[in-house]
Amino acid sequence: MLQSENYFFLSERVRTSRMLGQNKSLVLHGGGNTSVKIIQKNILSEDEEILFVKGSGWDLETITVQGFSPVRLEHLKALSKLPILSDSAMVNEMVTHLTRSSAPIPSVEAILHAVIPFKFVDHTHADAVVAISNSVNGERIIRDLYGNQVIYIPYVMPGFDLSRNCSIQLAQELTEDKIGMILLNHGVFSFGSTADESYNRMIELVLIAENYLNENAKLSFPSIADKAKGDFSLDLVYLRREIARVAGFPIILKSFRNNKSMHFCNRPDLEIISQQGPATPDHVIRTKRLPMIGKKVEEYAENYRKYFQEYEPLSRERKKMLDAAPRVVLDPQLGLCTIGRTAKDAQIVADIYSHTIDIISWATLLGGYKALPAKDIFDVEYWELEQAKLAKSGDQPEFTGEIALVTGAASGIGKACVSSLIKRGAAVVGLDINPAIKELFTNENFLGITCDVTSESQLKEALRTTACTFGGLDMLVLNAGIFPPGNFIETLKSETWQKVMDININANFVLLREAFPFLKAAPNGGRVVIVGSKNVPAPGPGAAAYSASKAALNQLARVAALEWGAERIRVNSVHPNAVFDTGIWTEEILTARAKNYGLTPDQYKKNNILKTEVTSRDVSEMVAGLCSSLFSKTTGAQIPIDGGNDRVI
Ligand code: NAI
Repeated sequence: MLQSENYFFLSERVRTSRMLGQNKSLVLHGGGNTSVKIIQKNILSEDEEILFVKGSGWDLETITVQGFSPVRLEHLKALSKLPILSDSAMVNEMVTHLTRSSAPIPSVEAILHAVIPFKFVDHTHADAVVAISNSVNGERIIRDLYGNQVIYIPYVMPGFDLSRNCSIQLAQELTEDKIGMILLNHGVFSFGSTADESYNRMIELVLIAENYLNENAKLSFPSIADKAKGDFSLDLVYLRREIARVAGFPIILKSFRNNKSMHFCNRPDLEIISQQGPATPDHVIRTKRLPMIGKKVEEYAENYRKYFQEYEPLSRERKKMLDAAPRVVLDPQLGLCTIGRTAKDAQIVADIYSHTIDIISWATLLGGYKALPAKDIFDVEYWELEQAKLAKSGDQPEFTGEIALVTGAASGIGKACVSSLIKRGAAVVGLDINPAIKELFTNENFLGITCDVTSESQLKEALRTTACTFGGLDMLVLNAGIFPPGNFIETLKSETWQKVMDININANFVLLREAFPFLKAAPNGGRVVIVGSKNVPAPGPGAAAYSASKAALNQLARVAALEWGAERIRVNSVHPNAVFDTGIWTEEILTARAKNYGLTPDQYKKNNILKTEVTSRDVSEMVAGLCSSLFSKTTGAQIPIDGGNDRVI
């Protein structure tokens, strides 16, 4: 077989895999898998049949050739004939029969792909098929719709058992008229001799289900606008605190109050339809088996513990209980809330549940939503491969699940603080008057809000958005500040004085006051870091407004430390000096200042006791450090970060 031909097959495999991945009603977040079978020469120049199957950790939407794991096909086929094989032994066999040592671990459905005697194989969890399959008369409708075109596979746990069952049924039932397989309560397989043939068959199969739903179960989510009104920020903050307490670690909580979510959360039959189980078993890893209705977190946790106690003894090996906290909350006021260790995880849960709402709603219109029994869901949730992942998962970055808000985050020290906090795993909200803040970081853990900190209403709105986007606030960095051009007191204008006071002190007072109830509910205790200035201990002539504003801010911080300590909120200040990689300093100002002292710009930058340059990153790392456990017993402290200054010392 020519190398170029293989290259063609693989690029075709990538192309149609991505087409499937782009369609969210077919696969979501790493779901689904595809494969192609290729004949390759091995190092001994012998022809070998290789299955290139999607590797775990890859998403069909963005997959590349590197995302496909090349496994020796003959070995996979031989494995399918074993009467029994544990899933971890199966993974070991697959990994030891790869032809590229750096390849990702092959999909757990690799053996299933191997036993389908077609070059291209596609597998999705199409919403429409799953919705019909999960309705009370699902199997009958599915069989009526698809007739002889497909093989029907009753539900068994994904992994070796499913692959083995499929291999037996394929041997008995595969005839020329078959274009795919319907895995009841799970998904769809299609196959073909070209990438397009397999892809088109998948679309054809899914369209049959979609057309049926269009005719028999049209969805509508009438607006219930009055329910969506009101400020529920503190309810979200308290809910997050409770969930974090039960989970045993801080969490990100996202709330969605769009029409579809609000409508679903206010359905009179919510207690019934939402408590059946997930749409497909693999969702359980993200969503848990059941959503929590309302805000009774302890009751939910108690039920979860009972579920574990009931099904764990039925498992072959002993299992370690996961945390008992919910991942999906359905609340008539708060809407759909989703929970994750990170903002990305919480968003994945939201995407999955948004599709689940459709699936449940369709199935309900068809006569009733019916998920798999709890035991089957438990088996996937506590699958040996998932438990192994848990045992291996290393330490998370220190601020994982925590939320920080930084003011003046579009430039200089504030921007560096965002990076230092994100690097440590925090979700960060950045406020700045400069609209560039919105596009500053393309990271799921960042939200940029254009906000003039001197506007009380804009600050309150920013806190509300923080609560809806991430669920609360653990760390507050008061950084926004201005340094007006030098002026002696006798020429200092009242407007300048007022403007400096408004930004450097008054805005910080308002934000502290408004953020207090949020910080008080922080699972690991609230932290405030104030970016002060060397001017506090050592003011300079010509900087009256600036020095006075920073001194007032310093006193405010000290009083906050005294008042809030009992609420486990720590308040500390850093006092930087001469941080040149910021918006305050331009090349011209630097050159002019240096000249005043008879120094070159470089000498001027290092004009301190340690003869070192202080960068915005140095300051931001100290800010993050003050939020960390290293300083867990410190409050009311003021730390210079100025390379050493004889007037301060
Ligand atoms: P910068 O000018 O690079 O950053 C300040 C940010 O605050 C800018 O993005 C600006 O748009 C924003 N901002 C200004 N007014 C605002 C308002 N009303 N609402 C929202 N955002 C507003 O300056 P740098 O140096 O990073 O300053 C940060 C803090 O560090 C300030 O409080 C400053 O006083 C302090 N500091 C700076 C020193 C330095 O040498 N750069 C030395 C000592 C303290």
